[in-house]
Amino acid sequence: MYTPEMIGTPQTGSATRVLLLGAGELGKEVTIAFQRLGVEVHAADRYDCAPAGQVAHSHHTLDMTDATAVRSLVDEIRPHFIVPEIEALATDALVGIEEEGLATVVPTARATRLTMNREGIRRLAAEELGLPTSTYAFASTHAEFVEAVGEMGYPCVVKPVMSSSGKGQSVIRSADDVDGAWEHARAGARVTGERVIVEGFVDFDYEITLLTVRSIDPATGQPATWFCEPIGHRQQDGDYVESWQPMRMSSAAADNARSVAARITNALGGRGVFGVELFVLGDDVYFSEVSPRPHDTGMVTMASQRFSEFDLHARAILGLPIDVTLISPGASAVIYGGVDAPAVSYSGLGAALAVAEADVRLFGKPEAFTRRRMGVALATAEDTSTARERATAAAAAVEVHATSDRY
Ligand SMILES: Nc1ncnc2c1ncn2[C@@H]1O[C@H](COP(=O)(O)OP(=O)(O)OP(=O)(O)O)[C@@H](O)[C@H]1O
Ligand SMILES: [Mg+2]
Repeated sequence: MYTPEMIGTPQTGSATRVLLLGAGELGKEVTIAFQRLGVEVHAADRYDCAPAGQVAHSHHTLDMTDATAVRSLVDEIRPHFIVPEIEALATDALVGIEEEGLATVVPTARATRLTMNREGIRRLAAEELGLPTSTYAFASTHAEFVEAVGEMGYPCVVKPVMSSSGKGQSVIRSADDVDGAWEHARAGARVTGERVIVEGFVDFDYEITLLTVRSIDPATGQPATWFCEPIGHRQQDGDYVESWQPMRMSSAAADNARSVAARITNALGGRGVFGVELFVLGDDVYFSEVSPRPHDTGMVTMASQRFSEFDLHARAILGLPIDVTLISPGASAVIYGGVDAPAVSYSGLGAALAVAEADVRLFGKPEAFTRRRMGVALATAEDTSTARERATAAAAAVEVHATSDRY
């Protein structure tokens, strides 16, 4: 059985084994962080050559929403830790695996189940914990939807309960938008016919991700919580385009943000990094949603913190000490595919890296789509506005070209 003091040797019988469910760019960095600590990492995704699969000890292609497929992979690998990287998983299988004591599901199987459905996490946050959120109502049918929109009033935000990256999401500003929003949510849903949430529009001053880490405090040997400096970000069509850290906040708003983050992560339990998404209006903070794993807007921490959110996730999962020190203001800017192509090449890396204090990560995804995230530019500076300019300039310098050759 695993104990935090003992790390085995990869690819031998003593190995400390991690199974990553989801092998995207966030998983790739988690894989590297674990491997630096001598952990054996297996990555799974629904397609071959996913980013984390390129650096893991092994890669497995399967339908991760298929409970039988997930279970047989777990039986084959016998991981100590199952680390979900995405929401769309057979979370009921994870509950069973945890109950049988086969592996530790990070942070907990219940957290993965609650957060994959906006209804589960919203009811926990608002109704059980009493956290401030937007107003909201759920609908299963068109008639219920019309009623829910009537209750929320204009403007309001519509989302399928199971979706991410803004899929199926839209804002209703007048009666003319109602039917279109319903169709859009139905089409963007992960599962056909799933419920829809209608949220009152929060006219926030700004929004943040508060990375919250649960691990063991070495001084006491007890579970403890750490908060990274808040991350500001800008979303476009429900998808993040740039982020920066630290986001300047009033001390009252910062206190409220930490309080909300502590309560929701405490309720979810387990160990690891959580990305708590909050809307801030004056000193008031509204809970929006939470990822029980590193957050895309948190990629900035690869430049701005002594230990990135990925390093912290690996440490926290292993119950190791946490250090959330910010070493410099920083920023990240997304590099999109810009083309639909089965293979791509990149130019302009030299120009991007010539930007002061800039760095670039290319994820190595085998296929590009116009709005697919293919890489990210990172930068540091004396202040976040200069860091944002540098990251944006570096991202813009990278060009993505469709390539006919596939080796
Ligand atoms: N009720 C709301 N009021 C105002 N803006 C909102 C509301 N809900 C969502 N938004 C805006 O849309 C963005 C995406 O919403 P949300 O995080 O719920 O979607 P998502 O699909 O889960 O996105 P992701 O997976 O990228 O986090 C938010 O970051 C915010 O900018
Ligand atoms: Mg979100």
